[in-house]
Amino acid sequence: MADETAVDVLRLLASGDRARAADLAATSPGALCAALATHLSRDAAAPVYDDARAFQAFISHGTNPALYARAIAEIADVQLRRRPRSVLDIGCGDGRITAESLAPGVERLDLVEPAATMLHQAVARFAGRDGVTGRADTVEHVLAGNDDRWDLVQSTFAMHNLAPDARRGVWADLAGRTRTLVVAEFDVPAFADRSDAHCAYLAERYAIGIAEYADHPEVVHGFLMPVLVGQLAPEAEPRYTYEQPVDRWAHELEEAGFAVSRRRIFPYWWADAWLLVGVTDAGGSAGLGGPAEPG
Ligand SMILES: C[S@@+](CC[C@H](N)C(=O)[O-])C[C@H]1O[C@@H](n2cnc3c(N)ncnc32)[C@H](O)[C@@H]1O
Repeated sequence: MADETAVDVLRLLASGDRARAADLAATSPGALCAALATHLSRDAAAPVYDDARAFQAFISHGTNPALYARAIAEIADVQLRRRPRSVLDIGCGDGRITAESLAPGVERLDLVEPAATMLHQAVARFAGRDGVTGRADTVEHVLAGNDDRWDLVQSTFAMHNLAPDARRGVWADLAGRTRTLVVAEFDVPAFADRSDAHCAYLAERYAIGIAEYADHPEVVHGFLMPVLVGQLAPEAEPRYTYEQPVDRWAHELEEAGFAVSRRRIFPYWWADAWLLVGVTDAGGSAGLGGPAEPG
């Protein structure tokens, strides 16, 4: 059950009335209103993935390590079955999932991550290993600039950063360039943006989320609040998330030409996390791709 005052604060933000939202949050009890009040009293900070310390604290604490352990085990299993020799990881962050899920036999690993510091950390995890490249760029831009192919393309909790049109363009492009696409994302109910139901869901779920980080205020202020407010005030703040139900994730991949299987992998506070695996007949990277096992 959502804190009704916090829902009201989010409704005010959604209507563009940031000043009244800030006043109401500042005079209301509850951890979520307190966090919103602090956030709304500050000037907009740098984008959350550029100085990624808050994001990295976020994924290092709360239930995130358990979520990541599950995602790693599931992706590693797909990699073992599909035996890729070339892998692309889209929005790899600091590479902690990439490094732990990589199957033996991968000869070429391409990492695409627009946040330069995290990309650097991701590449550093593979120091001394041949065949690893990193591009500090968006996936849209990287795909537009080459016609490379990969046996397997993976992305964990990153493709919800892209607006739906851009995302569909990436799927369509990848359908001709990989035979296996592995995507971890959240099953968020379909809401009209900034609707009452949307505000109520955000208030209910973020109250649980910030409670996990009571000992890590840098996560609340440096990551969770910017992501929350960015969903409601997208004209004024960077928007980091374009979420959707798992059925729509599957439909997007099917529309692009993938045959999709999926499984729920973790009951996360924001929404259940799912793994979707899309398969096509496309060839892998020239000279590297070997035969794949089904599934
Ligand atoms: C929630 S983080 C997930 C990072 C990592 N995959 C993980 O699971 O820890 C989302 C990542 O997507 C990246 N990202 C945002 N927009 C992107 C784009 N257009 N192309 C590629 N990556 C993007 C962000 O910089 C960020 O590192």
